[in-house]
Amino acid sequence: MLKKLGLALAGAALAATMAGGAALAWNEGGGEQDEAIKILFDLEKKIKEDPKLAEKVRKDGIAVYEVCSACHTTEGWGTKDGTFPQLAGQHDTVIIKQLADIRAGNRDNPTMYPFALPKEIKNAAPEVGGGAYAIAVVARYISQLPMNPDWGKPKPGEVDLEHGEKLFKENCVRCHGDNGQGSREKFFPKIHGQHYLYMLRQFEWIRDGKRRNANPDMVKQIKNFTDKDMKDVIGFVAAKLSPPKERLAPSKDWLNPDYE
Ligand code: HEC
Ligand code: HEC
Repeated sequence: MLKKLGLALAGAALAATMAGGAALAWNEGGGEQDEAIKILFDLEKKIKEDPKLAEKVRKDGIAVYEVCSACHTTEGWGTKDGTFPQLAGQHDTVIIKQLADIRAGNRDNPTMYPFALPKEIKNAAPEVGGGAYAIAVVARYISQLPMNPDWGKPKPGEVDLEHGEKLFKENCVRCHGDNGQGSREKFFPKIHGQHYLYMLRQFEWIRDGKRRNANPDMVKQIKNFTDKDMKDVIGFVAAKLSPPKERLAPSKDWLNPDYE
């Protein structure tokens, strides 16, 4: 599994020129990210035969996620105004990459940065520690949370959905999938169910080179998008695509029972 993943990534990794002038290959991984991914897949195998280990990994995930829940909410649903993304249901590999990128300074996130550091996580969950294992278990936990059935969408009439659909099919499907489901193996994020205003900001930052961990192929694909194109395509994703029903929480009032 890991080998296959590594090969797929080697193919996808192209050199990107960073704003600061230094070159950073997209998802070159290494260090903590690779370590956490390896732990994740190892655990996945072992858990199948070991219910006790499964319970421990879940508990550890809950302990670490408590730090995150202060901003991302205990349900992992973020906020409609786009300040905080929905994390629930995101691919575990994507969460690991983003977290490792934030920790390594490849993605600016001044609000979250101090809380993502090993020291802070270790303080909050001493039994788990703050290293690659903590990242793996929290990513696994988050990816299994049911998703918010009431995510932020554009206002009626705010965007041209037909135009957005055309742009989506021509420019996004090959990576994010025909339903916005992304790819666990390739580290492509799920974008269905994500808040409209959050995606709008991220898309703009990716287009304009402010997100240094962005995929260079995506940057190329969208570099000629106008602000209207951007709103139309993101508006279409938020308004018209949806996670499968079984991945959604039963109602928007669902509360995560893991936190009293
Ligand atoms: C102090 C608030 C805060 C805390 C605590 C926090 N985050 Fe965040 N997080 C944010 C903000 C704000 C963003 C969006 C940043 C942006 O707009 O680029 C974010 C983004 C993310 C993303 C990227 C999601 C995406 O799809 O782009 C991940 C993954 C993430 N956080 C995971 C975590 C985890 C795991 C923890 C706990 C260890 C955590 N966060 C703790 C504020 C926080
Ligand atoms: C070549 C593959 C590729 C194409 C084409 C592509 N994307 Fe992406 N997109 C990615 C990857 C990979 C990321 C995550 C980058 C990273 O690692 O931070 C991403 C991130 C995003 C994000 C931020 C998600 C988050 O959780 O932070 C949004 C929103 C997005 N893409 C929307 C789109 C839309 C809409 C299109 C079409 C107009 C598009 N993308 C085309 C690969 C692609």
